[in-house]
Parts: sequence; structure tokens; C-alpha cells
Amino acid sequence: MNTDQFWDELRGEIQSQSVSHHPLYKDLVDGCLRRETIAELCAQLKYAVLDGISSLSTIIPLAPRHIKKELAANLFGELCGTPAEPSHWELALKAGAAAGYSMENIDARPIMAETQLYPDTVASYARRGGWLEALSYVSLGIEDMFTEFCDGVSRGLVEHYGYSDADAFYFYVHVGADEVHAATGWDAARQYAEDDDHRRRIRIAALEGRNMWWNMYSAIYDKGEGGTAPRLSLN
Ligand SMILES: [Fe+2]
Repeated sequence: MNTDQFWDELRGEIQSQSVSHHPLYKDLVDGCLRRETIAELCAQLKYAVLDGISSLSTIIPLAPRHIKKELAANLFGELCGTPAEPSHWELALKAGAAAGYSMENIDARPIMAETQLYPDTVASYARRGGWLEALSYVSLGIEDMFTEFCDGVSRGLVEHYGYSDADAFYFYVHVGADEVHAATGWDAARQYAEDDDHRRRIRIAALEGRNMWWNMYSAIYDKGEGGTAPRLSLN
């Protein structure tokens, strides 16, 4: 198989379990997800930034120079904000509060085991020198589909839940930003995964990221809706 075909097939494999099929996404877009579930979603998204993105920053010393530069700017913007926008964890708190809660209520919610898997897996790859695996877990597995999720969710929140554009800003900023972040990840994977063995490891990392993110939505859905959303696992 040529390498272009490998990457095209991997993207197809990742997207075969699209977030647009997840009950949490479908119910929110239709306006029938409980406000409590939206609050919990935003609480977990806060941890994805504070813990997940912080953990990803540990690959900066390992990455090639041009990737270091781009990655540092991306991660710094997420955690610290930029002149144009607040940090993404502060935006997540604001979006959670707009479901009808205080910021303190959203902030006090504990991290779920399904969310904790994100920083833990990224840290474990980084410790073993696997900067490209860690980046692929996040960029290929999570960010590449987060754009579509945020596009639908921001519209759902405004249409059905009375959110202002400012309340839903966390979701709006990710529509453009994560397209850029995902492109960084795909370019790095194509350039630095040089043999079949490394490409196989990147595939596993990307699918692990995709599954973690899906399963986090499922845990949030089950807690808020009392349902049993499907879980994904590597076979
Ligand atoms: Fe973000």
C-alpha cells in the first residue's frame, strides 16, 4: 500500500465512528439534551484543556523545531488565551454556566475517569519519547472531528437553549481552530512516521484518541440522561 493511501484509509477509519452519530450530539442538536448534561459536558471540556492540553505540552522538548513553534503557540493560546480570546478552559466554564449554573458549580465538578484517560495516555506516550503518537492521539483522534461537533453544538445551543453567541464562544472558536490543529497533526504524521511499523503505532494512537473522546461523551450522557450510550474499544 502506498503511504498516501494509508493516511486516507486511516482518516476514513477514524471518521467511521463520527461524533455526529453520538446520542449526546444528536440530542443536543435536536434540543432534547438536558441542561444538566450540557453543564457536565462543559465541566469535562474544561479538564480536557487544563489537564489534557497541559499534558500535551510535555512533547514540546521532543518535537522537531518547526512543529515545536506551531505547537507551543497552539497550546499557549488554549491555556492562557490570546488578545483576541480568553483561555479555552475559561470559555468552557462560561458555556457550562450558561446552561443555568454558577461558574463555581461547573468548576467544582470532578474529572471523570473517561476524561482523565486523555492526560494519562498523552503523558505515557511522551514519557516513552512518543511525541508523534501523543500528537496523533489528540490531533488525528480528537481535534479532526471536534470541528464538526462544535459546529452543530454551537447552533443547537443558540437555537434551543437560549445561548448568546458569547455564551457559546467555546464551541465557535473550535470550528476554525481545530481544523488548523488537525492539519498540523496530519502533516507531522505524514512527514515523520517513516516506516510501516511507526505508521501502525500512529494508527493505534489516533484510534485510542478517537475512542477516548467518544467514551467521554458516553460517560457524560449516561450520567446526565440516565442512558446507556455505546462505548468504543480497540479490536
Ligand atoms: Fe481548545
